[in-house]
Amino acid sequence: MLADASCERNTDVDWAQVRKSYPAQQPLLNLNNAAVSPPPFVVEQAVIDAYRFISKNPDVNMWTGLDLKLPDIKRRLATLADCDADEVVLNRNASEGLSVAIFGVQMSTGDRVVVSSWDYPSALGGWQQRQSREGVVVDSVTFDPLASDEEIIGAYSSAICPATRVLHLTHMIHWTGRVLPVARLCALARERGIITIVDAAQSFAQMPISFRELGCDFFVTSLHKWLGAPVGNGMMIIKRGRLRETWPLLASFDATPDTVDKFDHWNLGTYNSALQAGIEPAIGFHQAIGVGNIHARLRALTRYWTRLAADIDGLQIHTPLETETLGAVSLFSVDGIDAVHLERVLRQSFSVHVKYRRVGQLEGLRVSPHIYMNEADLDVFVDALRKAVKYA
Ligand SMILES: Cc1ncc(COP(=O)(O)O)c(C=O)c1O
Repeated sequence: MLADASCERNTDVDWAQVRKSYPAQQPLLNLNNAAVSPPPFVVEQAVIDAYRFISKNPDVNMWTGLDLKLPDIKRRLATLADCDADEVVLNRNASEGLSVAIFGVQMSTGDRVVVSSWDYPSALGGWQQRQSREGVVVDSVTFDPLASDEEIIGAYSSAICPATRVLHLTHMIHWTGRVLPVARLCALARERGIITIVDAAQSFAQMPISFRELGCDFFVTSLHKWLGAPVGNGMMIIKRGRLRETWPLLASFDATPDTVDKFDHWNLGTYNSALQAGIEPAIGFHQAIGVGNIHARLRALTRYWTRLAADIDGLQIHTPLETETLGAVSLFSVDGIDAVHLERVLRQSFSVHVKYRRVGQLEGLRVSPHIYMNEADLDVFVDALRKAVKYA
């Protein structure tokens, strides 16, 4: 296989072999893996096989065939996330998990939630909805994503008050790739009896992560970004003690009130078991490389392209580069050049796909390579960027 199965960093990974295990990205150089990543071939094939199997006898083959593997899939995901298997919910994506948590927590008029302007828009939309419909009060924190951990913790702490019931946190900010000191923020919340929701859509499987160490109540992620599972898979982890008091988003068919069943895919209506059949090979592929190696490689790729591009006039990087939490995601802008235009030129003239992002006053282009990419891809990108900036 590719390397040993440990989570520790191992420099012997054959990255060229990893690259061959993925479908070639064409016609665009895909530097937007933070949105959704391609699955390795082994995952793609498992889905195709499962889909054909389902077609032969859908009812039986899905629900008493493929589903037999789900307890084992949950056990393996629990190992990756360091939680108990009976705290794991399988669903369709992180957006779904966010809504389950946001609308599921019991709150009364006047109860407050602390969010940040960097949180995922549909999470903020969920909280706004609770504010409009129920009178829950949303307190929004703002901070410079280049600020120190201490400053960020200070910003959250000063927004917390006695009426705060929930702290909503994003582990890796998807706009810029900044990783927040979430374990420390959860500790701060726990001391005050505040419920924590952690959006780990960008961090899970991109970097070593432990649900137990984060110490949150709700942990939400998709599996189609950094784990490489098929598009349409998400996971939520709910601390056992929160199960009974949390409402499910969709009415359950036959779930007991204090188990994860009421949030689980069984109770989300008919779902596509073929997509779930791709989770296990994705975990196997991921574990064979090791999450420590994956994170180190992604960090190295980000440092590689940012150093290469450093002499481009007016280039600004909006992501802290010299931290151990740096991963694949970063945001840049070029002084005096419209980012929307630059994105278009890169795509239309150079077949390079990066993502325009704007939040508040900050706008730029997000770059997110994945483990199937290499330095040569980033040479192509930086060369294209140099030319695009010159002629923009
Ligand atoms: C931080 C964050 N949260 C939530 C989501 C939503 O994820 P999904 O597409 O799985 O619903 C994303 C997607 O990019 C994200 O980056």
